[in-house]
Amino acid sequence: MKSYSFRMKRGALRRRARDVSLVLVVLLCATVVIWTWDRAPTSAFLPPESHYLKLQTEEKVERIPTDTKDIYSSATPFVNKDTKEEEIQGEEVTLSETNQGKTPTIEEIKQEHEDIATEPIYRKTPAIEDNKLEQVKHEVPVGEAKATKKTHIKKTNLDPESKSLAADEERTSTTHIKSQACNYAKGKWVVDDHRPLYSGAHCKQWLASMWACRLMQRTDFAFERLRWQPKDCSMEEFEGSKFLKRMKNKTLAFVGDSLGRQQFQSMMCMITGGKERPDVLDVGPEFGFITPEGGARPGGWAYRFPETNTTVLYHWSSTLCDIQPINISDPLTEHAMHLDRPPAFLRQYLHKIHVLVMNTGHHWNRGKLNGNRWVMHVNGVRNTNKKLAALGNAKNFTIHSTVSWVSSQLPLHPGLKAFYRSLSPRHFVGGEWNTGGSCNNTTPMSIGKEVLQEESRDYSAGHAVKGTGVKLLDIAALSHIRDEGHISRFSISASPGVQDCLHWCLPGVPDTWNEILFAMI
Ligand SMILES: *[C@@H]1O[C@H](CO)[C@@H](O)[C@H](O)[C@H]1NC(C)=O
Ligand SMILES: *[C@@H]1O[C@H](CO)[C@@H](O)[C@H](O)[C@H]1NC(C)=O
Ligand SMILES: *[C@@H]1O[C@H](CO)[C@@H](O)[C@H](O)[C@H]1NC(C)=O
Ligand SMILES: *[C@@H]1O[C@H](CO)[C@@H](O)[C@H](O)[C@H]1NC(C)=O
Ligand SMILES: *[C@@H]1O[C@H](CO)[C@@H](O)[C@H](O)[C@H]1NC(C)=O
Repeated sequence: MKSYSFRMKRGALRRRARDVSLVLVVLLCATVVIWTWDRAPTSAFLPPESHYLKLQTEEKVERIPTDTKDIYSSATPFVNKDTKEEEIQGEEVTLSETNQGKTPTIEEIKQEHEDIATEPIYRKTPAIEDNKLEQVKHEVPVGEAKATKKTHIKKTNLDPESKSLAADEERTSTTHIKSQACNYAKGKWVVDDHRPLYSGAHCKQWLASMWACRLMQRTDFAFERLRWQPKDCSMEEFEGSKFLKRMKNKTLAFVGDSLGRQQFQSMMCMITGGKERPDVLDVGPEFGFITPEGGARPGGWAYRFPETNTTVLYHWSSTLCDIQPINISDPLTEHAMHLDRPPAFLRQYLHKIHVLVMNTGHHWNRGKLNGNRWVMHVNGVRNTNKKLAALGNAKNFTIHSTVSWVSSQLPLHPGLKAFYRSLSPRHFVGGEWNTGGSCNNTTPMSIGKEVLQEESRDYSAGHAVKGTGVKLLDIAALSHIRDEGHISRFSISASPGVQDCLHWCLPGVPDTWNEILFAMI
């Protein structure tokens, strides 16, 4: 018995010793693996480069590869189908979707066409460039990619803002400097007898009749009498003559979608006070705005006030990225939508611009992309990254790349002030643009009259300009509480039952965007 139990004990001891050495071996192996992992670059554990897209950093964006030069500087005027449709329909987002390609489902439109308020709030991270890489290599945990990639990427935020601010201080009055510190996005709407700044019935030279609610069946005009009063700071009153003086020998450029065009027409009416100005010159050809053969209209408009040599222009770029036909000789060609390249117009004419106002937003839906045969490209090739292909991400990515490209150009153009204008909200209630959605309210300020939040309501825009020299023209929240200011059911070109709760009546809300812009330049 004794010897048996002794044997048992010895056997148990031996087994335990074996277990312990096994554990030790495993621990040793684990240590070696962790040690090598720690030392090797993250890239060692990623698929070879050809298996994932490397997104461009600003350095690359600046260089034009010779083999794609023709894509960038294509002289062939590109007829944007959106442009044609908008002209015919007098509408932008709401009416043109179904003409070609696949008709989007209601659900698709709802999802992709939603305004920023319903977009999820994403975690904030400080470095834009790091995140571009994260977007692509989404298998890699965010923290790791950041830690290992940080040193490889050149930061392009050279803080040109402080430079241009210093320049400002030299030539502007003290009140002007004070106004730089004001957050114009915060404030309230007040009724003011000195509004509107021009007559919607008389500004025929600049204002399209499809946006002039005075020329429609609309009979309530309380929405015209509102003025934006920023909180804790006064905003310089807009005057056309003051604007022209400040913009002597200078060019103001709006680049964006039809909401940008509304802001452009509003500005022309504000400068002229809605009066006829036969002396104002059409200088479109100086910026390549020529109606292409077979096209409905040029890629933009440019007008010059001779007394101060001030030019105000608008260029149509609904997605704020470069779009080029893939096969120039094929009329039904697909178009490469280069998410990481700024519109060709900006590359070509930035040196002639002194104040730039960019916007995008409502064109990022499947209907538009399919209808226009736009195919997302990154780094010169078709995008295969599924995460980036999601429209919300593609839009956000494009806003970030165009804004940081413009910011990277600021040191080369010391006279340039660049703005990104945050999203103009839509107000469809009880449906979408094509399912009976409406915006019938006519009482101003019924959903609110004040904005007190510090951060922009347009998270993507706020994030994109952070740390760059591009300033945010933040109109998202103040416009959001102006649901009564849309064209609504009075649209002259819409089919019965279809309302326009996207575009604004002019005079109206976009005038305020320009008042804030004026205070910021
Ligand atoms: C937008 O893109 C930037 C840069 O690529 C990224 O840092 C940010 O998280 C993205 N935001 C959203 C809402 O996707
Ligand atoms: C505007 O340009 C003209 C011609 O180049 C020049 O004579 C004039 O001084 C400029 N004015 C300002 C305010 O820069
Ligand atoms: C008008 O302004 C531009 C700069 O925007 C300048 O190059 C040009 O010389 C000016 N022309 C006149 C006649 O002052
Ligand atoms: C471009 O389009 C033309 C006309 O449809 C066609 O003949 C040609 O083969 C196309 N080229 C390519 C590279 O697909
Ligand atoms: C808005 O007005 C239209 C036309 O008068 C009507 O059909 C629709 O039901 C109204 N919508 C709401 C939400 O009241």
